Amino acid sequence: MTDLQNSELPRTVLVTGGAGFIGSALVRYLLTKTTAKVVNVDKMTYAANPLTLETLLRIRQHQHIQVDICDEKAMADIIDETAPDIVIHLAAESHVDRSIDGPADFVRTNILGTYTLLEVVARYRRERAAPELKDLRFVNVSTDEVYGSLGPDKQFFEESAYNPNSPYAATKAAADHLTRAWHTTYGLETIVTNASNNYGPYQFPEKLIPRTIIRALLGQSIEVYGQGTNVRDWIHVDDHAEALWLAAVKGRPGRTYNIGAESECQNLDLVRRLCAILDDNCPEAAPHGRHIAFVADRPGHDHRYALNPSRIQKELGWQPSISFDDGLRSTVSWYLENRTWWEPLLEKSYDGGRLGQNIQ
Ligand code: NAD
Ligand code: TYD
Repeated sequence: MTDLQNSELPRTVLVTGGAGFIGSALVRYLLTKTTAKVVNVDKMTYAANPLTLETLLRIRQHQHIQVDICDEKAMADIIDETAPDIVIHLAAESHVDRSIDGPADFVRTNILGTYTLLEVVARYRRERAAPELKDLRFVNVSTDEVYGSLGPDKQFFEESAYNPNSPYAATKAAADHLTRAWHTTYGLETIVTNASNNYGPYQFPEKLIPRTIIRALLGQSIEVYGQGTNVRDWIHVDDHAEALWLAAVKGRPGRTYNIGAESECQNLDLVRRLCAILDDNCPEAAPHGRHIAFVADRPGHDHRYALNPSRIQKELGWQPSISFDDGLRSTVSWYLENRTWWEPLLEKSYDGGRLGQNIQ
C-alpha cells in the first residue's frame, strides 16, 4: 500500500473505538498488512460487539484496553505506557437517530472525549520531548455529515463550509475544529479525515444496510424514511480502512482528506437492490421487496451527501478497490453467514425498532 521503508513505518498505533464497525476493520487491516503493534482502546458501549474482537484478541500484536476516552488519567497512563507513534481516533457515538433521541452522550464522547485525547497526546509529546516524538501523529476520523446537506448536484470538497444539521454531525464538527486548533496552536501533527457512509461486515444493526438485511430476513417491515429519495454516498469499510492508514502515514499534518468512493444511491433504490440480492440468495422467501414500508421521516433529515475524494487520490495515490455492487453482495452474504454475530445483539442491546422519533 505504501512506498515507505519498514524502518519508517510506525511501530505502535493506538486506535480508539477499535471494537466498533470501522475501528475493527482498521485493526484487522493493520494486523494483516503491517507489522505495527496495535493498542485498541474501546469502552465497549452498546455499539461494540465482543464477538467482533474474539479472533483479534488471539493475535499477540494486538492489545485491547477497555476504557472511556473521557477518562483523562487512564488515557494519559495508556499513552505513557504504550508510547504510540500514531493515534487514530475513531471512538464515538455514531448514530444520527440515537443523537436525536439523546444528544448528551454524543456531546460527552465526541467533543469532550476528543478534547481529552488531544490534551493527553499533546502533553505527552511536550513533556517527553524526545526528538522522535515530534512526529507523533493524531488522526481524527470524521464524517461528510459535518458539511450539511446537498441539493441534486455538486459535491463536498475539503474547503466546503461546515454546516452540520444533526446533533451527531454537530459534535463531529466540533471534534474536527478542536483537532485543527491543536495543530495550529500547539503544533500537534494532526490530520482530519471526512468519510462518506460506510458499509460492510460487522456493522451494528441500527444502520440502514444491516437493518434492512436483518429485518427482511426476519420477515419484518423494511422501514424507508420519508419517500426514500434521500441520497447517501457509500464506501466499503475495507476501502476506508486502507485510506485511513495511508492518510495516517503519508498525509500532510494540518490537512483534511475526504474519503469516498463516489457511489451515490437513493435510499429506496438501495433497499430495492438489497432485496434483489436477498431474492437471489434466499429464493424461498422472495420477493423480499414486499416488506418495504414508508415511515415517518427523520427530523432534520439531510437530503443528499456526495463527497469529492480527488485530494486523497491525487496527493496520496489512494483508490477504492471494491465496487458498490460487489460490496453489497458480499455484505449480504456476510450477514446471512454470521447470524451468530447479530442475533444476540437483537436480544441484548437493540431490539431492531425505530430510533430517532423521541422529540417533543
Ligand atoms: P461504531 O458505533 O460502530 O463504533 C464506535 C466504537 O467507539 C464502539 O466500539 C464503542 O464502544 C466505542 N466508544 C464509544 N464511546 C466511547 C468512549 N467514550 N470511550 C471509548 N470508546 C468508545 O462507529 P463506526 O461506524 O465504526 O464509526 C467509527 C468512527 O468513524 C466514528 O468516529 C464515526 O463518527 C466515524 N465515521 C463513521 C461513518 C459510518 O458510516 N459509520 C462514516 C464516516 C465517519
Ligand atoms: P443511517 O444508516 O442511519 O446513516 P446516516 O444517517 O449517517 O446517513 O441512514 C442512512 C440513510 O437511510 C439515511 O438517509 C436515513 C435512512 N434510513 C432509512 O430510510 N431507514 C432506516 O431504517 C434507517 C436506519 C435509515
